[in-house]
Amino acid sequence: MQSPFQSKLPNLKTSIFTEMSLLANEHKAINLSQGFPEFDTPPFLKSQINQAIIEGKNQYSPSSGVPDLLNQIGQLIQRQYQLTLEPLKCITVTSGATEALWVAIQTIVRQNDEVIIFDPAYDSYEPAVKLAGGICRHIALNAPDYAVDWTLVKKSINKNTRAIIVNSPHNPTGTLLSKSDMEQLQQLVIENELYVISDEVYEFITFDGVRHESALRYPELFKRSFVVSSFGKTFHCTGWKLGYCVAPPELASEFRKIHQYVTFSTFTPAQIGIAAMLKEHPEHITELAGFYQNKREHLVNALKDSRFKILPSAGTYFVLLDYSDISALNDHEFCHWLTKEIGVAAIPLSPFYENKQGEEHHESYHQQNKVIRLCFAKNEQTLLKAAAMLCQLEQKSKH
Ligand SMILES: Cc1ncc(COP(=O)(O)O)c(C=O)c1O
Repeated sequence: MQSPFQSKLPNLKTSIFTEMSLLANEHKAINLSQGFPEFDTPPFLKSQINQAIIEGKNQYSPSSGVPDLLNQIGQLIQRQYQLTLEPLKCITVTSGATEALWVAIQTIVRQNDEVIIFDPAYDSYEPAVKLAGGICRHIALNAPDYAVDWTLVKKSINKNTRAIIVNSPHNPTGTLLSKSDMEQLQQLVIENELYVISDEVYEFITFDGVRHESALRYPELFKRSFVVSSFGKTFHCTGWKLGYCVAPPELASEFRKIHQYVTFSTFTPAQIGIAAMLKEHPEHITELAGFYQNKREHLVNALKDSRFKILPSAGTYFVLLDYSDISALNDHEFCHWLTKEIGVAAIPLSPFYENKQGEEHHESYHQQNKVIRLCFAKNEQTLLKAAAMLCQLEQKSKH
C-alpha cells in the first residue's frame, strides 16, 4: 500500500485573505478584508509599460533587475533616508515583496536556527522559516498599542537565534516602530550578531507627519539587514507582484545566488515602466501618505457614531476596530457574521497569532482580543457605504 504523503507544512490551511475574499464574493459583501486598492495604477505607468512591450523589451532582464530601475531606487533611498549605496550591488528586484522575504529567509536561516517574529505577523514569514529548517519564536504584541517589549526580546535570544523579522508600518495593526525601537533593535543585533529582515512594504504610508524609521536610516543596523519593499503597495498594482530587497553588498550577493534560482528575473516591461515613473513622477510617492490619510479620515469619521472602538492607525492602509461592545462572538465567527448578515467583509486578527483557531490557548486569546482589521484602500463611496452599514450594528445582547 502507498504510504500517505508527508506534507512539509502539515498545519497550513487556506489563508484568511482567500477565505474572507471568497466569502465576500459569495455574499456580495463590500470587501474591506484583503489589502488591495480599489483604484487603478497611474495612467503614465501603464503607458510606459505598454510602450516597453511594443518596443520589444520583452526578454529577460539582468537577474538583479533593469539597471535604470536599480539606479532610480538608489536615488529614492538617498532622498528618503539619506543613505548613499551602490544600487547595482545592493538592490535586487524581485517578484513582489513575497519573493524578497522568501529569498532573504533562505539566505540566512539554517537548520535549527531560531527566528524571532512578532505576532500578529504577516502570514508568509513562518512557512518560509520552516522550509529553511528554522524555528519561529513568536513574541505577541497586544492591543491597544501593540508595542514591542525589547526586554522580552532580549530574554528570548539564545545561542540558536539567527534573525529578527520586523514589519513597520505594521500589517495588520497600523503601528510604527519608533526611533527608540530601531535603536534597541540595532543594539541587540550588534550584541548578538543577528540578522534583520525588515519588511517595509508600506514605507511611504505613514500619517500625521510621522516619519518612517527605515532600517536604512541606521548604518550599523543596515550592515546586517535585508530591507524589503513592494511596488504593488506604492503604485496601486498589487497584481504585478514587483518588489525589491536592499542589503549591503556581501549580503546582497548571497541573496542573489538564491534569487537567480527562484525566479532569475522579474517582468522586464514593468521594471522599465516603474523606472520611468520614479524618474518622471516623484510626487506620486511624496503624495501617497496624504492620499491614504484622507481615506483613513473618511472611514474613521464615518464610524465615529458606531459601537466600534477605533484603534489608532499610524500607517499602512489598515485600521483595527474593537467590537467588544457589540458581540461576544470570537473574531473569526464575528467576521463571518459581519460578511453574511451585515454585508461588510473584514479580517479577524487571530490567524496572525501563533495559537490559531482550534489550537491550544485559542479561547483565552479570544476572550481578550475582539479586534478586526479593515482595509481603507478603497474609494470614498465604498468606505462611506461600508461605514453606514457598520454604524447600524446594535449591542452585544443581539447575539
Ligand atoms: C506586511 C506585508 N509584507 C509583504 C507583503 C507582500 O507584498 P507583495 O504583494 O509585494 O508580495 C504584504 C502584502 O500584503 C504585506 O502586507
